[in-house]
Order: sequence, then C-alpha cells, then structure tokens
Amino acid sequence: MRGALGTAARLLAVVFVAIAAVLHYLENLDPVTIPSMAEDVKTLEENLRLQNRSCFLLGASGETGKVLLQELLERNIFSKITLIGRRKLTFEDKAYENLVQEVVDFEKLDEYAAAFQGHDVGYCCLGTTKAKAGTEGFIRVDHDYVLKSAELAKAGGCTQFHLESSKGADKNSSFLYLRVKGQVEADIEALGFDRYSIYRPVVLLVDRQESRPSEWMARKFLGTLSSVFPTAMSIPIQAVAKAMVSNTLLQPEKQTEILENKAIYTLGSSTHK
Ligand SMILES: NC(=O)c1ccc[n+]([C@@H]2O[C@H](COP(=O)([O-])OP(=O)(O)OC[C@H]3O[C@@H](n4cnc5c(N)ncnc54)[C@H](OP(=O)(O)O)[C@@H]3O)[C@@H](O)[C@H]2O)c1
Repeated sequence: MRGALGTAARLLAVVFVAIAAVLHYLENLDPVTIPSMAEDVKTLEENLRLQNRSCFLLGASGETGKVLLQELLERNIFSKITLIGRRKLTFEDKAYENLVQEVVDFEKLDEYAAAFQGHDVGYCCLGTTKAKAGTEGFIRVDHDYVLKSAELAKAGGCTQFHLESSKGADKNSSFLYLRVKGQVEADIEALGFDRYSIYRPVVLLVDRQESRPSEWMARKFLGTLSSVFPTAMSIPIQAVAKAMVSNTLLQPEKQTEILENKAIYTLGSSTHK
C-alpha cells in the first residue's frame, strides 16, 4: 500500500514538473519585440492630442471593446471617437457624452460607407464564435464584416488599423477559427494601410456576462495559473486594451507589425497608469 502511494506521488510529481516545463516554455515562446518608448508616455499622449486625430472603434459593446473604449476616453488622445456597431449603446457616465455613434447594418456595409469616412485610426474588436453564430456566421463576422469595414475605412482616409486577432492565427491552419483569423489578417494587410497592427492575445481573462461555460472553466483554471505564468495561456483584458492604445503612440519599425501575447502583456503592463 505504502509502495503504491509512493509510486503515485512520484508520478504526480513528474506530471507536475512536466506541466510546469510546458508552461515555462509557453511563457517564453514569443519573442518580445516592443518598440521602445523613447519619450515618456505622457509626452507621447500630449503629442497625439495636439494632432487632433479621430478614431473609430468596432466592437465597443464587447468585452475587449468596452475596456478599450474606457482606456481611450481616460487617456483622451483623440479629439473624436466614433463607435460603429449594429446597435446604439447607452452610457450613464458623463465621460461618454461626446462619443459619436454610427449604427450600421453589417450585411449592407456599402450603404454605410459614410460612417467609415474621415477617421485617422481604426480599432477592431469585432468577433463572434462558431458556437454562437455557426460556421457561416462566424466567417461572416470575423472575416467578411471585419475586412469590409477595413476596406471602407481605408477608402475613407483611415491610415492606421489596429486589429484584435488571436494567438495562432494562420490562414493555412486546419482549424477554422485560426484559419479565419489568419485570412482576415492577411486580407487586411493587402489593403496597404500606412500602419497595420495585429494583436494576437491568448485566452482573455474577463468576467463575461454572457454564458460561455467552457470559456468560464478555462478562465477559472487559467486565472490561477496566471499568477505564476502570466502570459503562457491567458492575458487580462485590460492589458490588451492598454497595449492597443499605448502602441498607437509608438512608431513601429514596419508597416505591418504583429504583437504576440507576451508583447501585448508587456506593453499593456508597462504603461499602467
Ligand atoms: N475571448 C477570448 O478569449 C479571445 C482570445 C483571443 C482573441 N479573441 C478575439 O478578440 C476579439 C474580441 O473578443 P471579445 O471576447 O472581447 O469579443 P466579444 O465580447 O464577444 O464582443 C464581440 C463584439 O462583436 C460584435 N458582434 C458580434 N457578432 C456580431 C454581428 N453578427 N454583427 C455585428 N456585430 C457583432 C458584438 O456586438 P453586440 O454586442 O451587438 O453583440 C461585440 O461588440 C474577437 O475577434 C475574438 O475572436 C478573443
């Protein structure tokens, strides 16, 4: 009996060490290439503020979009913020009173080209899931709506596009989710924005109101792990939002840049207020 217990304990220890090794590997997998903050954040924010730039946000009612909108308002770097979505959102707080809202029918986006005109910067946190929308619906939203919005924005004078994509996005993947994410990344790159930033987070740590049981369970597990391995398998949603805004202040080295999870986390954490 004691021998069996000893063997079980040794096995458990081996499994534990193996899991820790995998997490350690994942934690250090992504090369962290973050453009350096030559000047302090406040100066960069002030510089952008003086340029009177405008931005639009797709997906402001979603989990990332909500936090991104908060961050954009708090940092006050744009003179005009437009929300483009399928429904009008209501906000209690005075901080939201100057927002412009454009309600569009994503199935007929060409008829709403005016909503996409005259913005300098675009942020996209739009998306659904196969479970919610089915395969066709998922492709329609995560690829077609996103690409069409980017096309209209580009035609309307937008020079910068920031896309929340996903870890592992790959247009050649055999997994639908990753393939669609990779395809939309590539199709938007072909539009030739002056600057195109792709953010590839892993599982978002957020207290979602909507019921997604598998995501909830994954989050409970990942939330615990994240105290030891903060970027191996998850990321707080605030870090993604902060990184998207902070990155806007920086000059990328290339026209298209990809921020993997660790870079997002590092940028999002290093610029905490
Ligand atoms: N969740 C994760 O762990 C995770 C991880 C990596 C990457 N991502 C990606 O990150 C992005 C944002 O994720 P999230 O979890 O923050 O999103 P979310 O909470 O699901 O919000 C999605 C947004 O897209 C809009 N939307 C969905 N279906 C639509 C439709 N048919 N027509 C028009 N608008 C529609 C929603 O508008 P309504 O409020 O009107 O529905 C909402 O504003 C997504 O592209 C997602 O794939 C997510």
